[in-house]
Amino acid sequence: MIVQLKLIMSNMYTVLMQHIPVLLKEVVDILNPRVGDHVLDCTVGLGGHAKAFLENIGSKGFLVGIDADGENLKMARENLKEDKNVKLVQGNFRVMVSSTHDTFDIIFADLGLSSPHIDDPTRGFTYREDGPLDLRFDQTKGLSGAQLIAQISEKELADVLWQYGEIKSSRRLACAIKEQNVQSTLGLKKCAEDIVGRFARKLLPQIFQALRIAVNDELGSLNILLQQGPSLLNSGGRMGIISYHSLEDRMVKQSFRALDPSTYQILTKKPICPSEEEVKNNPRSRSAKFRVIQRVLE
Ligand SMILES: C[S@@+](CC[C@H](N)C(=O)[O-])C[C@H]1O[C@@H](n2cnc3c(N)ncnc32)[C@H](O)[C@@H]1O
Repeated sequence: MIVQLKLIMSNMYTVLMQHIPVLLKEVVDILNPRVGDHVLDCTVGLGGHAKAFLENIGSKGFLVGIDADGENLKMARENLKEDKNVKLVQGNFRVMVSSTHDTFDIIFADLGLSSPHIDDPTRGFTYREDGPLDLRFDQTKGLSGAQLIAQISEKELADVLWQYGEIKSSRRLACAIKEQNVQSTLGLKKCAEDIVGRFARKLLPQIFQALRIAVNDELGSLNILLQQGPSLLNSGGRMGIISYHSLEDRMVKQSFRALDPSTYQILTKKPICPSEEEVKNNPRSRSAKFRVIQRVLE
């Protein structure tokens, strides 16, 4: 028992030490957290960006951090335990932004999954080791990847693979996944290898990403954030979103462009992307695109 506990603590410590927040300097530079600011971190994860916000807003500021994943939230709690002006909430940010009456100086979202998701084979996000095909950020709610595959039709599954993963053999792959009643990560990997042969290596990240987007309804949540977020900004407030998928970046770009320019100014004419050096140090940052708007001073 004590050995197990020590192992859990040391894993937790290792994860915190290894966690590298994406575009951290750029996020702080452009969102410019100031003393006393109220911040909403929609995807607090392990608290990497949140820590930097808290360092800048001081004890007069306040940060609300949301994450759908209870395990990540535990690590954020540990990472931010010195800070008293923090409220961490487990849930989907779409619920918070649709129901809150609070307003903020900074709203931030760093979309998608986090390193611990990929590192833990029991969560279903990796095919390096076998595990259940779960793929949920919030394991207390909704259908797992395996359940979703069982519930939707072959055509719907092919659409998911095509629309979110641009998988050319989406129909054949969907047919094989349904026929083989895939339940596990290695089961899905084998199925992909059967259908696309040597291309599986290249396509597997896209296949897993497509299913993950569907399982968590990630585009639905982003859409609600884009609709509600700007109106929750205080005068002069900034909203920034880091996305990792071309569909998400397109949604962010189009939604920011559709805002009334007399009320909201786009601060990033082009998305901010990680430098070569950042990608070298943190390959998971390679597809990041960061866009920011500001509510004009009224
Ligand atoms: C890229 S990580 C964030 C990392 C964080 N910025 C940090 O520095 O530690 C994305 C996080 O968002 C969470 N997440 C994704 N979609 C969400 C949603 N709709 N609502 C709440 N949390 C979400 C995931 O569970 C994951 O922990």
